[in-house]
Amino acid sequence: MKKAILIYFTGTGNTKLLAESIKNRFYLENLYDVNLFEINIDTKVIDLKDYDLIIFSYPIYAFNTPIIFDKYIKKLKLLNKKYLIIKQSGEPLKLNDTSSYKLRKWIKKNNGELLGEYHFLYPYNIHFKYPDNLVKELYILNNKLMDILIYEIKNNIKNTAKLNYFYILNSKLFKIQRLGGPINSLFYKVDKNKCINCNLCINNCPTHNIELKNKKIKFHSKCIMCMRCSFFCPTDAINIGMLQSWKVNGAYDYNKIIKNDNLDGKFIEHNQTRFYKLFNKKIKNIEELHNFYFKK
Ligand SMILES: Cc1cc2nc3c(=O)[nH]c(=O)nc-3n(C[C@H](O)[C@H](O)[C@H](O)COP(=O)(O)O)c2cc1C
Ligand code: SF4
Ligand code: SF4
Repeated sequence: MKKAILIYFTGTGNTKLLAESIKNRFYLENLYDVNLFEINIDTKVIDLKDYDLIIFSYPIYAFNTPIIFDKYIKKLKLLNKKYLIIKQSGEPLKLNDTSSYKLRKWIKKNNGELLGEYHFLYPYNIHFKYPDNLVKELYILNNKLMDILIYEIKNNIKNTAKLNYFYILNSKLFKIQRLGGPINSLFYKVDKNKCINCNLCINNCPTHNIELKNKKIKFHSKCIMCMRCSFFCPTDAINIGMLQSWKVNGAYDYNKIIKNDNLDGKFIEHNQTRFYKLFNKKIKNIEELHNFYFKK
């Protein structure tokens, strides 16, 4: 079987789940044997020459790639190979499409061949917690998008839509706000009445931004706003400064939600509010393409 490497960053685990499902599905379909490679601040630079396909995957942060992801990709020697971009985020806004504009530029500059770019939807790790029925709906939708991805790779159909210049400008403007991470993390604090000193936040921060000093948890200025510390804190003890009202605490129990037969997975249909209406077009596009490929 041909070999692929999937290089990804994840803050709170969604991109990791997606990477694992791509690995499994590519293997089952006899497409590629995929090695998974997770980026942290100290991950070593790897050699891409042994791979037939290079897959990049990331969560969208403010219409861009995460800084830690960019910094790592810049260190890699990109070769004239085949590439695939897999991004995932909370909402289906078209503005998220241009998050990959730099990545696409780097691939092109190195004469790489971009096979496709796919945007999966996962529940928010910031802003607000998605209801279980929406989580189930996104799971069903993601499975359909995965079918489409596999079909297009097998049939050499390139899914590389042109990027809109206005949207690229928007991504560039939001990039400026990346300064917000280091600044905001100076306002992070731990409620010592809630903290159980489990050290999970300290041990898991991907940039080693958290340390224990004089028995107190201290945050430095290397924060990339991945939300891992506050999302997984077992006692919800971390205050995330200016973003506190947008904090989501506690992992989604995907296995339980997916198996729950009381959830019909049609949340958007039942909740046509302003925000959820945004999902209609994305759902329609995926459904239609899926029907086109598989219900002939
Ligand atoms: C700092 C930050 C910015 C985000 N910006 C966006 C965004 O612009 N668009 C979006 O759809 N989701 C956005 N999200 C939501 C994440 O993309 C989403 O929750 C994703 O599933 C997280 O992936 P992970 O679990 O692999 O870290 C943002 C999340 C964070 C923490
Ligand atoms: S994860 Fe939460 S409970 Fe554990 S040490 Fe950090 S702040 Fe305290
Ligand atoms: S301090 Fe928290 S939000 Fe910032 S990089 Fe570390 S784990 Fe992520």
